[in-house]
Amino acid sequence: MKRANSATSLILLPKASDGPNVSFDRAAALAETLPTPFLVLSTSRVHATIRTLRRCLPRVELFYAMKSNPDSELLRLVSGLVDGIDVASYGEVVLADAAGVSPERLFHSNPIKKESDIADCVRHGVRWFTFDNVDEIPKLQAQAPGADVLLRVAIQNASCVVDLGAKFGAQEREAVPLMIAAQSAGLNVRGVAFHVGSQSTDPGIYLTALLAARGVFDQAAVVGLELDTLDIGGGFPVTYRTEVPGLDEFCKVLSQGLTDLFPESVRVIAEPGRCISGGAMTLVVRVIGRSTRNGVPWYFIDDGVYGAFSGKLFDHCDYPLMPMKKGPTTECVVAGPTCDSIDIVARDQRLPELEIGDLLLVPGMGAYTKASATSFNGFVPPVTVVEPDERASLKRRRVGSRVGRMEPAGSRMAAEPLVDTGGIAARKAVGRPSA
Ligand SMILES: Cc1ncc(COP(=O)(O)O)c(C=O)c1O
Repeated sequence: MKRANSATSLILLPKASDGPNVSFDRAAALAETLPTPFLVLSTSRVHATIRTLRRCLPRVELFYAMKSNPDSELLRLVSGLVDGIDVASYGEVVLADAAGVSPERLFHSNPIKKESDIADCVRHGVRWFTFDNVDEIPKLQAQAPGADVLLRVAIQNASCVVDLGAKFGAQEREAVPLMIAAQSAGLNVRGVAFHVGSQSTDPGIYLTALLAARGVFDQAAVVGLELDTLDIGGGFPVTYRTEVPGLDEFCKVLSQGLTDLFPESVRVIAEPGRCISGGAMTLVVRVIGRSTRNGVPWYFIDDGVYGAFSGKLFDHCDYPLMPMKKGPTTECVVAGPTCDSIDIVARDQRLPELEIGDLLLVPGMGAYTKASATSFNGFVPPVTVVEPDERASLKRRRVGSRVGRMEPAGSRMAAEPLVDTGGIAARKAVGRPSA
């Protein structure tokens, strides 16, 4: 059990959850003026996660995988704290540019690219790309001659939720022939990339992956290719309803493996997404309708699997629902607001009897949630709210940075939370009602 930062509301956490980043009282106060659903961004959580990564992996450069959450406020904050941004498309390059990230800090990690996407990225100034098969080479040769490239190798991992090795990566035996072909095509082959799979729960998988990468480095050296860069991807897990090992534990295995297998002369970069964005946002939703079916209570809330809960489908993720109301709990069904029957948020979470208007907090809603949300049925995805005290650190950072939407001098800072106004405007435009 954890105590919320308010005297009157105790937050009963599912034991394993990393917890919400906003108290019930504060969420209720915000919901008095902001229509639900909304996501509360905790900048202190972001700072804390990145501090942990820096402390535990001192030699590793961090490239935030913005695919996990490209929210403009988050991106602006994170980009000021990390070394660069991992992008998967030109569309992400455009968003990173809007957040003030310069092109030399971008790394294109998608092994399969449309040729026009490569051309657009190169025109913007992106220099680093990943590939994992022979057909990618002529595309890069034509559009990105002389670019720095990493070969992605596949890692088999039974202990991850999103098995990226099933879709991407060359086999170890294919690696050096592919590197030779790329080098012959005039590309600058710099090293090896891997991703152990997202929401990976076994820290030991990093050692397996590092050994595979070491093997490729050694085989490449035999044919005269001196590799100097290793990309260890993402994969660090977040606790949702089931407890997972902490970041320190993962980093310990990784750090030791790097020390043992790769000299300091090898540049190591990582592409963490989920572990930075996941715990950084808590979703606030309202009950907007009720019914009883076969004796089981159903609660309809104002966000669902077509919105921020899209991670339930695409990310195979199960989020803890935390009711503001206390009392005896019963089995129930929690459903989203759309007219589709797939829009079910939870069937196995016990809740007290809820009424229309009641609030629920959903922690851990920062990664692969709003990023894949749609506006199906006219329900606009939740806006992002940055709390006032949290906003102060955001503003301090902006003042020191070259880019960003700086507040005009003397603007009011304290009273209201900073809201992603584009989203709010969009929501008003479609007249989304609040319960
Ligand atoms: C190439 C690449 N890098 C980084 C990431 C981020 O991974 P994670 O969110 O597990 O940290 C992904 C996720 O799909 C990816 O495909």
